[in-house]
Amino acid sequence: MLELHGKVALVTGAGPNIGVAIARRLAAAGARVACNDVDAERAEAAAAAIRADGGDAIAVPGDITDPQAVAAFVQRTVDVYGGIDILVNNAAITVPKSLLTISYEEWCRNTDIILNGTFLVSQAVAKQMVAQGRGGAIVNIASTSGHRGRANAIAYCTAKGGILNLTRAMACDLAPYRIRVNSVSPTKTGASVGGLESAGARDTREILLGRLGHPEDQAAAVLFLVSDAAAFITGEDLRVDGGSLATWGTRSQRFEEPSSRTV
Ligand SMILES: NC(=O)c1ccc[n+]([C@@H]2O[C@H](COP(=O)([O-])OP(=O)(O)OC[C@H]3O[C@@H](n4cnc5c(N)ncnc54)[C@H](O)[C@@H]3O)[C@@H](O)[C@H]2O)c1
Repeated sequence: MLELHGKVALVTGAGPNIGVAIARRLAAAGARVACNDVDAERAEAAAAAIRADGGDAIAVPGDITDPQAVAAFVQRTVDVYGGIDILVNNAAITVPKSLLTISYEEWCRNTDIILNGTFLVSQAVAKQMVAQGRGGAIVNIASTSGHRGRANAIAYCTAKGGILNLTRAMACDLAPYRIRVNSVSPTKTGASVGGLESAGARDTREILLGRLGHPEDQAAAVLFLVSDAAAFITGEDLRVDGGSLATWGTRSQRFEEPSSRTV
């Protein structure tokens, strides 16, 4: 049984899909959870869902790309709960455009939220964890789109690839302080980022296990990585992708009849 009693977690982008599922899963394991989102109603809804489950949560709204807002919501978490042991960098947006169609402003906004936002929150929380002197665990939510290219997602793919190596570099910097840093790479899970594509409209043919990810699949992986069961794991990426990165990334493999294969 993975448990987090006595721990305090901060989850960014605790919106209605993966973020709230992570926040609820950590709370169900015993953590007190600060739920961040740039949308204050979403942050409050996540905290309210945890309290309705019988857990302990507060909303700490704020924009992760605003250094002052980050400092304020990290400090509020510390003021209310006395410290931070776990950080999950989950907030993201995606601009569904290609190299040929994206504007420079859209490119900057997408990479700013994913890369600079993750950096800002991680730096503020890591300094707090170092000052506390009791270690910690950070999980950055990456994506299968960080492992391979995809059309019409140039900024998102680039930034998520950056998250994978940011994770490794953070793990190097923070290991001396017993702070572990890992990433989780979801494949298509529920609706797409920003709800641009509904769950029902998403093509699952490249996913070997034949279905979309559930937000709870991602939450379970995060819980494992922040728990003591992963005490010797840092700088690692855990792909929670139903096997999609195990293939060539083509869309037909799962449906290919064995008789039609050339061997
Ligand atoms: N949904 C998928 O299929 C999928 C697949 C692979 C990876 N992911 C990753 O999983 C994570 C969660 O995805 P999701 O589908 O739940 O997305 P979502 O769009 O439902 O939720 C993201 C949340 O981040 C918040 N946010 C955006 N900008 C912010 C900012 N500047 N500051 C604070 N909060 C901000 C949004 O308001 C939103 O509530 C993201 O990192 C995403 O890239 C999702």
